[in-house]
Amino acid sequence: MSPHDRHADRIEELLSQMTLEEKAGQLNQEPSTVDVPIDMVEKGLVGSLICANSAYAGTDRQARVRAAALNELQRVAVERSRLGIPLLFARDVIHGHRTVGPIPLGQAASFWPEGVRRLAQIAAREARADGIHWTFTPMLDIARDPRWGRIAEGFGEDPHLASVMAEAVVRGFQESGLHTMSGMAACAKHYVGYGTAEGGRDYNTGEITPTTLENVYLPPFRAAAKAGVATVMAAFIEFDGKPATANGEILNGILRRRWGWDGVIVSDWNAVAELVHHGVAEDLAHAARLAILAGVDIDMAGGAYWRHLPELVRAGKVPQEVLDEAVRRVLRLKAACGLFDDPYTPEDAALVEIPDEHRTAARELARRAIVLLQNKGGLLPLRPGTRIGLVGPLANPAVRETFFGTWTLDGEEQDMTDILSALRSHPGPKEVWHALLPDEAVAQARLCDVVVAVVGEWRHRSGEDNSTTTLDLPPGQTELLQYLGKIGTPLVAVVAAGRSLALEPVLEAADAVLFAFHPGLESGPAIVDVLMGDAEPGGRLPVTFPRCLGQVPIYYNHKNTGRPVPNFRYRYVDRPDSPQFPFGFGLTYTAFEFRDLSVQWDPDGLRASVTVANTGGRDGEEVVQLYVRDDVASISRPVKELKAFRRVAVPAGGEVRVELTVPRNDLGFLDGEGRLHLEPGTFTVWVGPNSAEGLEARFRFEP
Ligand code: BGC
Repeated sequence: MSPHDRHADRIEELLSQMTLEEKAGQLNQEPSTVDVPIDMVEKGLVGSLICANSAYAGTDRQARVRAAALNELQRVAVERSRLGIPLLFARDVIHGHRTVGPIPLGQAASFWPEGVRRLAQIAAREARADGIHWTFTPMLDIARDPRWGRIAEGFGEDPHLASVMAEAVVRGFQESGLHTMSGMAACAKHYVGYGTAEGGRDYNTGEITPTTLENVYLPPFRAAAKAGVATVMAAFIEFDGKPATANGEILNGILRRRWGWDGVIVSDWNAVAELVHHGVAEDLAHAARLAILAGVDIDMAGGAYWRHLPELVRAGKVPQEVLDEAVRRVLRLKAACGLFDDPYTPEDAALVEIPDEHRTAARELARRAIVLLQNKGGLLPLRPGTRIGLVGPLANPAVRETFFGTWTLDGEEQDMTDILSALRSHPGPKEVWHALLPDEAVAQARLCDVVVAVVGEWRHRSGEDNSTTTLDLPPGQTELLQYLGKIGTPLVAVVAAGRSLALEPVLEAADAVLFAFHPGLESGPAIVDVLMGDAEPGGRLPVTFPRCLGQVPIYYNHKNTGRPVPNFRYRYVDRPDSPQFPFGFGLTYTAFEFRDLSVQWDPDGLRASVTVANTGGRDGEEVVQLYVRDDVASISRPVKELKAFRRVAVPAGGEVRVELTVPRNDLGFLDGEGRLHLEPGTFTVWVGPNSAEGLEARFRFEP
């Protein structure tokens, strides 16, 4: 019997004893581990604590939390409040805790859900030992605009890839049981459509049509709900005049009624109070009423619920049952987290050293999150016995923390090996020189055999509230690469960033380009593994890379329009209309050929099989990707949609037969009311290494 079933009677008993104030208190989430309002905890006016001191936790430095300090607070709730209801402790454990993995965009680039699940499992174990029960991940916002800094936190532009990763993260955090020391409650956020912020400007309004909402933005959330995610966070954004925090159609309507999901909905930071700024609420009380009626159970850091829900219920403006139901859900979550069995965390469980197996998991995932974009003359992997000049602003060991990426609250710099040390301890190179300043870099480039320039974005240039108006490298970096490129010494550019960038000048200047979405704790060793050929660059792009900012938004699963290429062309006069790199793209150190595609349709779905041959000289891994197009439908459908993928290892000279299946319902589409349409007709199928290449076949769909 699950803990919340075991405690069902206790929950009802508590509900019958609670005052309206205590009920509203359970729905109140207070920020901070520093200034905790002890008197409010004693009065039962706090239900959960978010262990962060500001609304910009992903960018601001946050105090570490320790089980002993949280236990002390817990004691106040359990021993000094009237009903002794324990507190729930939350924190943003976004892409690892002490063992920081690649940012989620990099995790998506791995196309390796098993590795993503493992990282989440490790994060759960480490964070739980610090006393944290609840994390605010995974972020499932489909993003088509890299100006939006939060693109770093999600799984990119594709609903299928994001759905697979959603399930992997939810399982990783939750599958061992929320009440165990290796489980935590996950939170699918930001529900929904937050990635549509106009101009890529964080918090901006979005425009979403009903069918785009259903087919593009909702699917990853549906996958998380299906995987049993314990909580969902409503987004800051508004579309169609309705801020998500007050949008009952998507919260109570779609999440709860249509999908039958029964978890806890939390607002984003201060978002209930911000309904006043949106201009849909007159004051805080009105905001509280709108949010609770829409289905938001917990008010994060907004102070609206505990201040106003009691009076709203007394005045008959919020039905008592609505309040009770929200409290019941919160108490059930507490029971599920084991808090009614033992509210305290053992104080000797916290990690002292990062265990080797945690590092290995982070390193394997990081290697598979690094994408090889260009490799002229097979410059990479670097030959042994060369003199390497390591240059560029991000090669500086003093800034190694940047490779953690955004939303790293608990990673510690001293746990990281920087690229320079990793390269110097590698037996391959004859010598490794390092230059800090551009002039020194140029001087060294004239003398060494190969230059490795590490450039890109520092960690707080992406993430929350870090939108940009350019997709160029930060100032000075392109010029440095261009200068180095002219010297004649072979040049490798390693670009680390939290978003896709417009890399045209980089590709012109450098012979080889490796792109690493900030890969986390093991960045240095993983980048060196790939540079030296101890590992393949395993990543594939989870977002389309534009040639320039003017092409944005550009994504592979667009519509055909009435004037497609090559007929009339919907195009630009000054640039090609194709992207720099398509979704799913990534080179390898070997060569793969796809052969003998066969597709079969049966009433359960589509079965495809293809032979993948490794025709190069090294063992390698390919990410086999299957795309479909519904050729004719009652509404226009995208030119291509990813429906299945598999990462396969193929030895040099060998081949494997790869089977991929697509369930029947995944070949349909939803209308604006969420009804599934399965329409008979022909479909085109492509199976290949990315969204722009592949073998093609057709089949007739007969649902
Ligand atoms: C962010 C959320 C985050 C929350 C708590 C907000 O500003 O939008 O993603 O989980 O803060 O730190």
